[in-house]
Amino acid sequence: MKIVIATHNKDKFKELHHGLLSLNVKLISLYDFPEIGEIIEDGKTLKDNALIKARTVHKITSLPAISDDTGLEVDALNGDPGVFTARYAGEGCTYLDNVNKMLKEMKNVPNQNRGATFKTVMAYVDDNMELTSEGIVQGTVTRTKKGVAGFGYDPIFYVPDTGKTFAEMEIEEKNLVSHRSRAIKALRADLATYFNASNIKENA
Ligand code: IMP
Repeated sequence: MKIVIATHNKDKFKELHHGLLSLNVKLISLYDFPEIGEIIEDGKTLKDNALIKARTVHKITSLPAISDDTGLEVDALNGDPGVFTARYAGEGCTYLDNVNKMLKEMKNVPNQNRGATFKTVMAYVDDNMELTSEGIVQGTVTRTKKGVAGFGYDPIFYVPDTGKTFAEMEIEEKNLVSHRSRAIKALRADLATYFNASNIKENA
């Protein structure tokens, strides 16, 4: 069985591939479908966007598709940037632009109000089924960048249980607590149940 991972991002594909390995399915990326360009993510929620991507890729390829969408919800910013996390500092902005904008916006926010949640929603779509899963991790927004690993907001997202920002963690350490790895784990469990039930039905 083949499943398309609805991403052009090689790092993300690697991470999802690793997390879904035990399902014994062949995972392929959008590089096998050059005709599929950027998919417009105009949903109001992370779940909407994850479903938009998985449905679009399933429709075009006729194969089951998996997608994910991630957002950072900052308490002091009333849950922003949320669905706008990737383009917080504007269209075409870099990771550094986003981090600098967040540090600026949060400059006068006291330590006790700097809580934030990283959330990933994953979606699976085939002809007969739509599944979604969610993974979250709670942390705080630091006052300065710390660490050099990872990407995105990692240098300013501090996880109190670990005493480190994401950018101060090895990838294995980040994977133990991250929003994305939790969402992948939850989807993997639901898919294992679903595939099992489908096999039982087909063989009955
Ligand atoms: P996406 O939906 O996975 O593309 O994520 C949207 C944006 O969230 C990305 O452009 C990054 O800025 C940020 N982001 C997603 N996952 C992480 C993470 O694990 N660490 C830091 N930033 C992340």
